[in-house]
Amino acid sequence: MAMFILICTLLFYLYGETSGFPSRQFFATSKNQAVPFTNAGPEPKFIEKYFTQVLDHFNFNSQFNGTYEQRYLITDQYWKNGHGPIFFYTGNEGDITEFAVNSGFITELAAEQGALVIFAEHRYYGNSLPFGKKDSFKNPEVGLLTVEQALADYAVMITELKRQLGATDCPVIVFGGSYGGMLSVYMRLRYPNIVAGALAASAPILSTAGMGASTQFFQDVTSDFEQCSPACRDAVQGAFIQLENLAQREDYGAIQSSFSLCKAPASGADIHQLKGFLRNAFTMMAMMDYPYSTHFMGSMPANPVKVACDTMMSGADLLPALRDTVGIFYNSTGDLTCFDLYKLYVECADPTGCGLGLDSLAWDYQACTEIELCYESNNVSDMFPSLPFTEQDRERYCTQKWGVVPRPGWLKTQFWGDALSTASNIIFSNGDLDPWANGGVRKTLSPSLIAINIAAGAHHLDLRGSNEADPPSVILARWMESGIIAQWVAMERRKSL
Ligand SMILES: *[C@@H]1O[C@H](CO)[C@@H](O)[C@H](O)[C@H]1NC(C)=O
Ligand SMILES: *[C@@H]1O[C@H](CO)[C@@H](O)[C@H](O)[C@H]1NC(C)=O
Ligand SMILES: *[C@@H]1O[C@H](CO)[C@@H](O)[C@H](O)[C@H]1NC(C)=O
Repeated sequence: MAMFILICTLLFYLYGETSGFPSRQFFATSKNQAVPFTNAGPEPKFIEKYFTQVLDHFNFNSQFNGTYEQRYLITDQYWKNGHGPIFFYTGNEGDITEFAVNSGFITELAAEQGALVIFAEHRYYGNSLPFGKKDSFKNPEVGLLTVEQALADYAVMITELKRQLGATDCPVIVFGGSYGGMLSVYMRLRYPNIVAGALAASAPILSTAGMGASTQFFQDVTSDFEQCSPACRDAVQGAFIQLENLAQREDYGAIQSSFSLCKAPASGADIHQLKGFLRNAFTMMAMMDYPYSTHFMGSMPANPVKVACDTMMSGADLLPALRDTVGIFYNSTGDLTCFDLYKLYVECADPTGCGLGLDSLAWDYQACTEIELCYESNNVSDMFPSLPFTEQDRERYCTQKWGVVPRPGWLKTQFWGDALSTASNIIFSNGDLDPWANGGVRKTLSPSLIAINIAAGAHHLDLRGSNEADPPSVILARWMESGIIAQWVAMERRKSL
């Protein structure tokens, strides 16, 4: 009881002050463009910079023996100059500003602990295209897009920036969410000389290394909707059964009008695309099931899973209900008069979606090489139509699309899989609502390999800035993370004495 009161007092002390003002905040970039920053907390003012980076870290005879310009965002506004720690976000599969505006916890923590904050963009994403928009995704240029090259980029960048900033003695903590969290883990495994600890939020290091069941992901998406209400799950499955019946009869006109499609489907391939398109909206709503509205990988209302279930069960007619439910994600602006299946959803080597634009090409390539995402729905352990995606399917697709043959097992060999007993100083945080959670580490493995499970959390909710609608579980998680990180920083300082 006393402990409980102590924790509550501390929680109030740490978060009570910052949670009340969802002020609008702005990014100052070197081009003086203001980017709105909507999280609560102390106002971060990032400067956008570029780092001249080695193109190929691993081949001194490479035909690509030059450099490229890698983008990063930096703020020293909280930094105890030359002394405070460095909080370094290992950028993942997208524009780095997206991650910076959606990871307010890191700057809130920096304000508390006097840290310098850097968000580094992953090569081949956002503005960090080594060969420009035109050539980066060609062969052989795309070959420099590997996890190892990205980690080496971060290691080189940290070392050089520390030197430039007079920060050689400042402990470095890496942060990341999702694939970015995987990179944080790998940074600690590969470069413990540079990185004192890692907060890996929602990092599915096991399932992306080919471990676990291929049906887990869509089963966990389904259980979010089922937990909201079993009738919701049944309604979704029922709608897919109706769609299947229409598809069997090749009643493409009825399918077009039920789903407000711009073009009538004309083949089994179009029906397959439609199923993937529909399933993807549920994936996104489950991942982004935050208790307040967000603009991250699309725009979502508060509690999108509940909104989806309300929509799904609002009418007697299941197909239009399904259309309106996926519209929560695809038609968040309310501007679409019809759904263009091939524009709104791109099928790729990641059945959970690659997003759109150039970033989706880069992620597709990664899913075709090191990152294993052979997840499938089966209409038995989940509410979706059976959409298999086997290793053979992946190999066929990747050979055709990129001229590469995936190497199952490589990521596990290279980054240890679950054989982590010699690792240290990593927090694996996961939210119970997140379909990626069970692909990650959910049990504490040692005193310094700590799992933090967030009961009411979706995809890396803990990295987001504090918000009035935060459940107690994430407030507690952030408080624990803050304490552990402070301890790592102190340990690292003692080591260097
Ligand atoms: C790259 O290699 C070529 C010869 O293959 C050499 O002429 C050039 O100076 C090298 N460039 C760099 C940046 O090292
Ligand atoms: C998109 O939303 C608007 C506003 O709710 C609605 O009128 C329109 O029919 C929706 N489009 C589709 C394709 O469902
Ligand atoms: C899912 O399985 C049920 C039987 O459990 C079957 O009636 C239905 O047609 C299947 N749905 C799809 C979309 O294949």
